[in-house]
Amino acid sequence: MAATLIDGKKLAAEMRSQIAEGVAQLKAEKGVTPGLAVILVGDNPASLSYVAAKEKACAEAGMYSREIRLPAETPESDLLAEIVRLNADPAIHGILVQLPLPRGFDEKKVIDAIAPEKDVDGFTPVNVGKMLIGEECFLPCTPHGIVKLIEVTGMDLAGKHAVVIGRSNIVGKPVAVLLSRKSVNATVTLCHTGTRDVGAFTRTADVVVVAAGRPDTLTGDMLKPGAVVIDVGVNRVPDASKPKGYRLCGDADFESCAAVASAITPVPGGVGPMTITMLLWNTLESARRAAK
Ligand code: GUN
Repeated sequence: MAATLIDGKKLAAEMRSQIAEGVAQLKAEKGVTPGLAVILVGDNPASLSYVAAKEKACAEAGMYSREIRLPAETPESDLLAEIVRLNADPAIHGILVQLPLPRGFDEKKVIDAIAPEKDVDGFTPVNVGKMLIGEECFLPCTPHGIVKLIEVTGMDLAGKHAVVIGRSNIVGKPVAVLLSRKSVNATVTLCHTGTRDVGAFTRTADVVVVAAGRPDTLTGDMLKPGAVVIDVGVNRVPDASKPKGYRLCGDADFESCAAVASAITPVPGGVGPMTITMLLWNTLESARRAAK
């Protein structure tokens, strides 16, 4: 393996200790404890574990967290009323509705109900629009974490070619926007399921961010030697040798990509730990703004 591992766990731990210092300082100077409300509707197992990880991370950073669990049969109007209450609650600086919502809920309507100044996921149209035009806003957590991971590789992306694979609203599209901002200054290509020959683009890329939701989307033969690979995928593949009967893998074929790349994120332990870290970052920032 030629590539070095981009250690998301290590970067997340460093940033979380900085965040904890910021929380302690805000408490001491302004008497304000940052508060995050997480709403979970239904009992999707992956969502339950994400929510538990968010609560643990909040506690470790010294933040207040409130979990609101609603049954899958909850009327949408009750969920919207809960969001309206949290919008007005001074102890809460960030509101996160865990996605996906159970069938029958109008996700767009629910996200729209979150006050933009408490939208620490950066999912509301106001924050998405502000990000696009470069105004101060809450940046979406996974894309923001990806930019931080590229920064720690030391690669200066100015004038370089970045290829993003996947055009989701949560990852692909915002990553493409963030990497093309003046502060990063990369030339960005956004590949998606309609792209005829993804490899023709990735072979000229200095950085490839793969967020396609499918294993083996990126293989070593598709890379330029020395490229940086950020793998956003989390896929479960059956593996009888594992206690749970499956193992996690990303969207990149790790072995072949690591043989060609200069640096690559592992799955797990790459992008994943950064998402919650950037959520804590946004919640602290929201509490700081509220305390001004
Ligand atoms: N489901 C999976 N990832 C996320 C996330 O970052 N935010 C929310 N709200 N739901 C998710």
